[in-house]
Amino acid sequence: MKILVTGGAGFIGSNFVYYLLEKHPEDEIVVLDLLTYAGNLKTLQPVLDKIKFVKEDICDREAIFKLFSEENFDVVVNFAAESHVDRSIEDPGVFLKTNILGTQVLMDASRKYGVKRYHQVSTDEVYGDLPLDRPDLLFKETTPLHTSSPYSASKASADLLVLAYYRTFKLPITISRCSNNYGPFQFPEKLIPLMIARALDDKTLPVYGEGLNVRDWLHVKDHCSAIDLIIRNGKVGEVYNIGGNNERANIEVVKTILKALDKSESLINYVKDRPGHDQRYAIDASYISKTLGWKPEYNFETGIMQTINWYLDNKSWWEEIVSGEYKNYYDKMYSGR
Ligand code: NAD
Ligand code: TYD
Repeated sequence: MKILVTGGAGFIGSNFVYYLLEKHPEDEIVVLDLLTYAGNLKTLQPVLDKIKFVKEDICDREAIFKLFSEENFDVVVNFAAESHVDRSIEDPGVFLKTNILGTQVLMDASRKYGVKRYHQVSTDEVYGDLPLDRPDLLFKETTPLHTSSPYSASKASADLLVLAYYRTFKLPITISRCSNNYGPFQFPEKLIPLMIARALDDKTLPVYGEGLNVRDWLHVKDHCSAIDLIIRNGKVGEVYNIGGNNERANIEVVKTILKALDKSESLINYVKDRPGHDQRYAIDASYISKTLGWKPEYNFETGIMQTINWYLDNKSWWEEIVSGEYKNYYDKMYSGR
C-alpha cells in the first residue's frame, strides 16, 4: 500500500509515520509537509531513508496534483493543519486557508487520481463543549457540530466538505474525531509539553481561568492505532470518534506534572482565561470499539509518566524550539495576561 501522510513532520503525523514503519514495514510512505513553525524535519531524521519526504503546501493545487500524478497513492491521511486554538484566536485566516481549502485541494487530487481512501484527521472540538456539571454527557458521532473557536470552526467546515465529497462525488472517505493527544514530539505550545518544559526550567506555569476545564486525554500511539484500523478496515463514508476515557481537569494535569518532576506548586500562575474557552470534552468511543475492535493501550497515569520521561530524555528536541522564534510567541501570547 502506498500512503501519503500530510503533516507528517508534526506531532501526530510523525508518530503515525513511526507507527506505520513498525506495524506495516511493507507499506510505502510519502510524507508531505510545509514545515511551518509546527513541523520539524529533525523528528523524522532517523527514518528519512525509509520514507520519501516532500516539502509542499497542501493549498498549492498545481504542486499537489503533480505529486499525485507521479505517485499513484492508495491512501491519503490528512494530518496537515493549523492546530493551536490560541493562535486561531490571534489570526484566523491561515486556519481557514490550510484547514478548509487545503482539504479541498487534497480531495480534488484524490478524486482525479483515483485514491482508494481519503482519511481526514479531525477533532472532538467540532462538537463544541459539554457542561462541567453533566458528567453523564459524552460526544457521539451523531452529536451536532457546534464550534467555539476559529480553529474548531475550520475543522468542522472541513468535515462538512469531506462528507459532501462522499455524498456528491462518491469519494471514498473516512473521518476520525479525536480527543486531546499527548506523547512524544508534541510542540511545546500545547498544555502538557508547555508545562513540562517550563517546570523543568523553574518558570511559572500559566493556567487559564481556574484550571477547571476538562480534556479527555489520549496517548498519541493509541490515536495512531485507531487511524491505522480505520484506513484498513473502516467503512467508507463513516465518522469514528476516538477517545481515551481519561478525563482530567487542567489543574490536575499540571499538578501531576509538578509532582512527577518534584517541583513546587508555587510555580502555578492563574492567568486570564482563553476567550470562548470550551469547558469540557469527553468522547464516547464505543462505535470504533464495537465495529473495529479498537481499544486504547495507555491509561493516563502510565502515559503521562512515559511522556514526561521522553521530554527529560530528549531535551535537545524541545530546547531548540523554546529558545528560538517560539520565545517571541510566548512573550506575545502570555505577557501581561
Ligand atoms: P501539529 O501542529 O503538531 O502539526 C501540523 C503539521 O502540519 C506540521 O508539521 C505543519 O508543518 C504541517 N502543516 C501546516 N500547514 C501545512 C500546509 N499548508 N501544508 C502542508 N503541511 C502543513 O498538529 P498535530 O497536533 O499533529 O495535529 C495533527 C492533526 O490532528 C490536525 O489536523 C489536528 O487538527 C488534529 N487533531 C489534533 C489533536 C491534538 O491533540 N493535537 C487532537 C485531535 C485532532
Ligand atoms: P491545548 O493544549 O491548547 O489544547 P485544546 O485547547 O485544543 O484543548 O489546551 C488544553 C487545555 O489547557 C485547554 O483547556 C486550555 C488549557 N491551557 C492552559 O490552561 N494554559 C496554557 O498555557 C495552554 C496552552 C492551555
